[in-house]
Amino acid sequence: MSRRKLIYEGKAKILYEGPERNTMVQYFKDDATAFNNEKKAIIEGKGVLNNRISEFIFNQLNDVGLETHLIKRLNMREQLIKSCEVLPIEFVVRNIAAGSIVNRLGLNEGSILKNPVVEYYYKNDALGDPIVTIEHIKINDWANEEEIKKATKISLRINDVLSGLFRAVGIKLVDFKLEFGRYWNNEEKKIILVDEISPDTCRLWDTKNEKKLDKDRFRKDLGGLIEAYQEVAKRLGIMPEGTNIKEIKTGISKTIKLKKS
Ligand SMILES: Nc1ncnc2c1ncn2[C@@H]1O[C@H](COP(=O)(O)OP(=O)(O)OP(=O)(O)O)[C@@H](O)[C@H]1O
Ligand SMILES: [Mg+2]
Repeated sequence: MSRRKLIYEGKAKILYEGPERNTMVQYFKDDATAFNNEKKAIIEGKGVLNNRISEFIFNQLNDVGLETHLIKRLNMREQLIKSCEVLPIEFVVRNIAAGSIVNRLGLNEGSILKNPVVEYYYKNDALGDPIVTIEHIKINDWANEEEIKKATKISLRINDVLSGLFRAVGIKLVDFKLEFGRYWNNEEKKIILVDEISPDTCRLWDTKNEKKLDKDRFRKDLGGLIEAYQEVAKRLGIMPEGTNIKEIKTGISKTIKLKKS
């Protein structure tokens, strides 16, 4: 695998050249980072779980006509994806106040927003990913008006699909982050969903007791991150009870579709 050409190594994933034109391989690492890379750790098994959860969610979206970059999962840590020109914008959809919006707007954590809101952040580590307006995006040519409108509309549709999906398994979708890319299919340009959707990029609370089942467990030193991600996977029906944690942690098994205990 190491013979492949490395294209980009990020904080949580690595991109390699894919087997065909316009494809790449997305490798999920175990690295966890927070607060613009100030806090770091390696959490064994996280990449395997995120790979699997993101695959499941992207397949659900593809099935309802919301195109994503996912072609297929290759193994425990890798996905074959469509290569895109990623918009340097993070699209954040919020249903419930949590995280940065709480202090920025003086809201109570957990308060329900009257309707879902989309926020835009400029992907730039040196600037600390600042929140920006649509005007900022346009004057800097990070994306044009049509692309922003399209991506915003898709973000809200994804919110509808995922809110229902998680609600059905006793989880509140508090907020999540999306990235979009330009994908050229012959002459036609499309805006499609890229990157990942996983407990690293969402806030997920247990409906009954509001237990956090996402990366806030790492940000807030709550512990039990792998167990929480496993719980999400289990509820989504990806990993049956009795799944072998060793296989998740080592990522050695060819398939994580493991037998029931
Ligand atoms: N389909 C795709 N085509 C091209 N690039 C992609 C695609 N999907 C995701 N990416 C990019 O691959 C990288 C994934 O790595 P990772 O998430 O670890 O990055 P990161 O450390 O969060 O840094 P960044 O600020 O670049 O997102 C991101 O830069 C993401 O935008
Ligand atoms: Mg990223």
